[in-house]
Amino acid sequence: MPQPVLDATIAHLQLEAQIGGYEAAERAHDAVEHTYDAAAALIGCTRDEIAIVENATRAWDMAFYSIPFAPGDRILTAMAEYASNYIAFLQIAKKTGAIVEVIPNDAHGQISLEALREAIDERVRLIAITHVPTNGGLVNPIAEVGKIAREAGIIYLVDACQSIGQMPINVDRIGCDILSTTGRKYLRGPRGTGFLYVRRNILERLESPLLDLHAAEWTAQDRFTIRPDARRFENWETNYAGKIGLGVAIDYATSWGLDNIWRRIKALAYQLRTQLSPLPGVIIRDRGVTQCGIVTFSVEGMDPDEIQHELSKYTINVSVTRRSSTLLDMEARGLETLVRASVHYYNSEEEIERFCRTLERIL
Ligand SMILES: Cc1ncc(COP(=O)(O)O)c(C=O)c1O
Repeated sequence: MPQPVLDATIAHLQLEAQIGGYEAAERAHDAVEHTYDAAAALIGCTRDEIAIVENATRAWDMAFYSIPFAPGDRILTAMAEYASNYIAFLQIAKKTGAIVEVIPNDAHGQISLEALREAIDERVRLIAITHVPTNGGLVNPIAEVGKIAREAGIIYLVDACQSIGQMPINVDRIGCDILSTTGRKYLRGPRGTGFLYVRRNILERLESPLLDLHAAEWTAQDRFTIRPDARRFENWETNYAGKIGLGVAIDYATSWGLDNIWRRIKALAYQLRTQLSPLPGVIIRDRGVTQCGIVTFSVEGMDPDEIQHELSKYTINVSVTRRSSTLLDMEARGLETLVRASVHYYNSEEEIERFCRTLERIL
């Protein structure tokens, strides 16, 4: 987290301790409300189309589980779909008789637009894809998918968990109806924060699977009215400090400029891939026409967990991505685990050189 995010989050916690939770929320009303404006400005929508929730998973779930599915309805997704999303597809398919279908990749390893076009018919109820998958640098062509979804009038849900804060995102340019994301990744916000965008013209058609006195109003003994805006996907109790921190994180990213951030990340990731690939046994695993700041690789004869452990001794943090997080893609490529090194704009060229030198030493 950048210092202003940390400061704002801690300051609100301190205020809660000093004057009380309700009182602090009231005093911070403008800062909390600002987060909706910041999120809306970041992705090019209006504030009433934003719900702020506890993470990207819950944001995605709240929208997905609101879509009414009938037997035979088709859900189209892509090879690199994230486990939590796919588990939800499988659950809904089991419960409702909807069918999950995976559009194959093209030669570059991204969703095949041709295959998607061919798969469209009147039974397709939803197109749901992940923009940047959890296991690599792939950037799926979400705007091109959006054109196909729009032409066919199909609800289009984008998981932008790993792309928000990394690159410019505009929901109109993408043509999506729903978009979910997290605060804790490229936005550099506090953990336990995320937000959901739902296009105004489908809001009324989506009844949240979970309602409380914030999402709806109890109007008579046998009646309730669901609120008209996207906050129908929120619930009453929330992490105010996190919400304020999220708004500051969005402002912080915006102040650098998303175009600038994206340019810098791509340059650093390119440097990292270029310097990694000649190292003995290293295989870069990223696919797609456009590749982002998440660099994944394996090393012949070396376990990714061991690489992570060894690098941590030099205060170098990487993560390990496992087969079960993106099962379809990993199985199709015969992969079990990969090392994942994510760069952000604050990384330096020298750090990348040190990373490659250190890796070479431990191989
Ligand atoms: C593609 C994708 N979607 C969703 C998530 C979940 O995000 P969160 O932890 O904020 O729920 C992740 C986390 O790694 C992810 O990679």
